[in-house]
Amino acid sequence: MSQSATPAAHRGAWRNRWTFVLATAGSAIGLGNIWKFPYMTGANGGSAFVLVYLLCIALLGIPLMMCEIMLGRRAQRNPADAMAYLAREANASRQWRWVGLMGVLTGILILGFYSVIAGWVLDHIVRAANGAFHGIDGAGAKLQFEIFLAKPLELIFWHTLFLAVTMTVVSRGLNAGLEKASNIMMPSLFAIVLLMVGYSMAVGNFAESARFMFSPNFVLITPSVVLSALGHAFFTLSIGMGSVMVYGSYLGRHISIARTTLYIALTDTTIGLLVGLAIFSLVFANGLAPAAGPGLIFQTLPIAFGVMPAGDIMGMLFFILVAFAAWTSAISLVEPAIAWITENFSFTRKQATWVIGVTNWLLGAAVALSFNLWADIKLIAGLNLFDLLDKLTTNILLPAGGLAMALFAGYVMKTTHVAEELGLGPRTYALWRFAIRYVSPLAILSIFAYLFGWLS
Ligand code: TRP
Repeated sequence: MSQSATPAAHRGAWRNRWTFVLATAGSAIGLGNIWKFPYMTGANGGSAFVLVYLLCIALLGIPLMMCEIMLGRRAQRNPADAMAYLAREANASRQWRWVGLMGVLTGILILGFYSVIAGWVLDHIVRAANGAFHGIDGAGAKLQFEIFLAKPLELIFWHTLFLAVTMTVVSRGLNAGLEKASNIMMPSLFAIVLLMVGYSMAVGNFAESARFMFSPNFVLITPSVVLSALGHAFFTLSIGMGSVMVYGSYLGRHISIARTTLYIALTDTTIGLLVGLAIFSLVFANGLAPAAGPGLIFQTLPIAFGVMPAGDIMGMLFFILVAFAAWTSAISLVEPAIAWITENFSFTRKQATWVIGVTNWLLGAAVALSFNLWADIKLIAGLNLFDLLDKLTTNILLPAGGLAMALFAGYVMKTTHVAEELGLGPRTYALWRFAIRYVSPLAILSIFAYLFGWLS
């Protein structure tokens, strides 16, 4: 196709390979690892969830992440136009663009609750600084968090602050300052997570935690555990909605998609597992419930900071680093929407940012209320707004997006184009292709079959 690889002139591009790796790792590593993974593990029977989750990362997550980066890089366009463009290249229907459009929407819906949870993290920076964790025990930490959750205006305040900071960066576009900050913040996050593990080993029940997370218990693997693990594998790797596609679209040709993906998936998974080990050590040593739900980390980590030497500073530092990780993820959640708006309507980046910012402010404010005033307003299937957005995006929209991209790359695109773009050796390519054509679609479809049969 003659006009291939002539993206609109105003599109940004990564300055070098490292920027792309950092941005994509920044997208992947976030609240999914630190907040979501532990409470999902706790609510889904521990090791049963962890085992299926690891399988999902290896068998579906890694091949699909490669697939999504590949689609973005080949098309050099926002997700909706990327799908349309690649479909045309393969003489297929333009309607594939709906995959991209669904991704744009999914990103907005995820950010709807993401910014509220990130707001909790911001609040905890201040809380740590004020010495609120001194000598706190399990019951005290739980109570403190419940009191916080019951205050709608505070939740909305922190959500607003987080969203404002996110949108400010988004409106400026690809940003060198952010890249420099990532260079320091990400390794620091890793270091402080290690420290937390060490500390929880010392003060918590590490043996019980390791048993809870790793001793195989196949009886506990139920269809709903599999569904949650599959959904979380997508969530934590940022795949299925175009985040990594749009990052891939700013990427030049000289990079190994496979190596980058492996590296990111490994780091991402390691961080989740480490945080989980720390949290459950504290859970079991303090008589807390592993299945406490979305508040889990906020009800456990303060206990450790409360007894740790220099715990106030450590707590502050920890929550600052988590907030930073959440921020780099949030940016990637809106980028597909921003790229789509600016590349399709006569909106500047700044105007597009306002449109999305206001939409997400309203959505997030409603989500904040779903933790207190509106907690009992059940929308569908007995779920309140937070639960609904969380389940709908993680368990349905992301796997559906991943399924569509797998089918597209596996059956619609020309094999030569795919192979050329991925640049793998013949054996690795065959393996990847098998995963994309058979493993991912079958796994996702069987889970959906269960889910929809079960709902009706
Ligand atoms: N992966 C991020 C986290 O773990 C969240 C995230 C960013 C995301 N972009 C995404 C999740 C795209 C799903 C899809 O916190």
